[in-house]
Amino acid sequence: MSKQEVIICHNLEENLNKAINQCPHDKLFVLADEHTRELCIPVLSEFDCIKNAHFIYIGAEDVHKNLETLAYVWKELGDKGASRHSLLINLGGGMVTDLGGFAASTFKRGIKYINIPTTLLAMVDASVGGKTGINFNGLKNEIGVFSPAESVLIDANFLKSLDIRNLLSGYAEMLKHGLISTHDHWIELLKFDFNNIDYKVLQSLVGKSVQIKEDIVEQDPFERGIRKALNLGHTVGHAFESLALETQHPILHGYAVAWGIVCELYFSHIKTGFPKDKLRQTILFVKEHYGVMPFNCKQYERLYEFMKHDKKNSAGIINFTLLTEIGNIQINQSASKDEIFEMLDFYHESMGCWSPFKQMERIVQTFHLSDTIKTSFIYSQLQSIKLLTIKQLEYL
Ligand code: GLY
Repeated sequence: MSKQEVIICHNLEENLNKAINQCPHDKLFVLADEHTRELCIPVLSEFDCIKNAHFIYIGAEDVHKNLETLAYVWKELGDKGASRHSLLINLGGGMVTDLGGFAASTFKRGIKYINIPTTLLAMVDASVGGKTGINFNGLKNEIGVFSPAESVLIDANFLKSLDIRNLLSGYAEMLKHGLISTHDHWIELLKFDFNNIDYKVLQSLVGKSVQIKEDIVEQDPFERGIRKALNLGHTVGHAFESLALETQHPILHGYAVAWGIVCELYFSHIKTGFPKDKLRQTILFVKEHYGVMPFNCKQYERLYEFMKHDKKNSAGIINFTLLTEIGNIQINQSASKDEIFEMLDFYHESMGCWSPFKQMERIVQTFHLSDTIKTSFIYSQLQSIKLLTIKQLEYL
């Protein structure tokens, strides 16, 4: 796979002009969705370099990341006279860069494309690394190809119109990049002040984050090995996302990833020795900024089913990426059903969804039990109803 050029822009017009000139073309197209049509096209349409471009507009959000929208883009390209030598600019979030990248990579066997991501999630993840595609048959990103953009132009000015929830959604992927890279980068991510956003600092953190992803993609573009590091938090995260969708309470991707990171760092702690203090610090950060995913133990079975059907699995084994330390990655780790249920208990306990321990304590206080009887009562109750293991009790 060819290497893509990722540019952190200080002057979008200049950077875009240069990127377009590096791709000789007959016709130029710009793909945008309803959101970027309103918020970002007015910025771009001032630029001389796109004054002769043809515009294609599609619906926004994941519901439009489908075959119908893809066919519409192909048709628009064809009807507006695109050839094998045309160039497409994708202006939008991950939905636009994924679908537009796939449309470009398949139209007349592939035309060149440039990504201008406008959400944080697209800047640090979706638009970089060459994964393109659409949802199909009820499954996310089921159809697609690896095909990198010629250039990815990142301009943090677009983030100024992004709401805090979407900002946090993208930030979860940055937190993941921190965890798989260096202690210093992880610490600076934990320190970022969301109450008083400094967009210059954010732009520099985005630059570092993208570099971490690029370095990994360069080593393993087709995800046969180390690229799986980028899946940290995603095995459980995707299950949370699917459950939320099924119960008609959809959540943003990054929120699911943040909660998935909590679960998978717990596994990292018990299975590969990830330090407890770093687990705690990450949990505190996630709790403070993302709150808690609501689900109950009756839904464990369903979450387990979703994990079993994750496309990252092979030979029916649920695949996790874990850490022994920050930056020390262990790919292809597995867990049993019991371990997964235990991990979900841990999530509930540490995120404060419910506390069987506290419930037990209340019973003990009510019946005025002595200390010795109290301790053995609590342990026997908790273990007999399989709510917590001794290990989990340490975190209460
Ligand atoms: N989003 C993970 C990857 O690009 O591999």
